Amino acid sequence: MTVQLLSDVTTNLDLQKLPQHIAVIMDGNGRWAKSKGLPRIEGHRRGANTLKEILRVCKDWGIKTLTAYAFSTENWGRPVTEVKFLMVLFERLLRKELTEMDEEGVCIKFIGDLSPLPESLQQEMYHSMEVTNNNKTIQFNVAINYGSRLEIVKACKAIAQKVQLGELSPEAIDENLISQYLYTCSSPDPDLLIRTSGEMRLSNFLLWQMAYTEIYVTETFWPDFNPSELKQALLSYQQRDRRFGKVS
Ligand code: IPE
Ligand code: IPE
Ligand code: MG
Repeated sequence: MTVQLLSDVTTNLDLQKLPQHIAVIMDGNGRWAKSKGLPRIEGHRRGANTLKEILRVCKDWGIKTLTAYAFSTENWGRPVTEVKFLMVLFERLLRKELTEMDEEGVCIKFIGDLSPLPESLQQEMYHSMEVTNNNKTIQFNVAINYGSRLEIVKACKAIAQKVQLGELSPEAIDENLISQYLYTCSSPDPDLLIRTSGEMRLSNFLLWQMAYTEIYVTETFWPDFNPSELKQALLSYQQRDRRFGKVS
């Protein structure tokens, strides 16, 4: 990455002190739409554009991993029409963007329980993971039908089964081993969490992985989030003193 390649927007950012892994809770699509007198689904459509743009700048700025929360295990409780629209949107986006993402070196991984998703969407998901598997520029994790508690329950079950079969001793269970049983096993823990639209909560996202993640909340609705807002988040991150329980 050369400085010439970076736009002016990175001025003042310390490119040596960027987070390796950014997680985002892309919230506020509905409120954005409401504020404009538009249907909620229009907010989701616009939010998808934002994600595309943020993925690109993360890649250009040398961020190694971006994990985006797109649909939670709790989001099934929304009106059926909204859920259906989201599923169709995910599939359409994947079809449209896969080639470009692949060319740009994006390695895509879906995290969450994919089995209840529409069959055609699952096929697109597995296909895109296979196609981009060896790409190295940026790791792009998309959390769909993701719930952190469910993820931990699944990990516990898989570990218990190993113990029952005599393939693992209980003494061998440590933090590192549990991390290896999570969907995020191939990524380091997030350094920075960004949540848009002002809510100060985790909403069942990466509870284990974010034990020491720095949190940045902006009032901006996700469809209005942009590279300059991302820069604000990064500037805030660069001012943090990450003590990890020690003294500085
Ligand atoms: C986030 O925006 C997108 C999803 C959860 C799928 P919301 O749809 O939650 O927007 P608000 O919070 O209602 O404004
Ligand atoms: C979190 O947003 C989930 C995603 C962004 C996919 P929600 O809008 O579902 O969270 P709550 O309901 O405000 O906690
Ligand atoms: Mg919301």
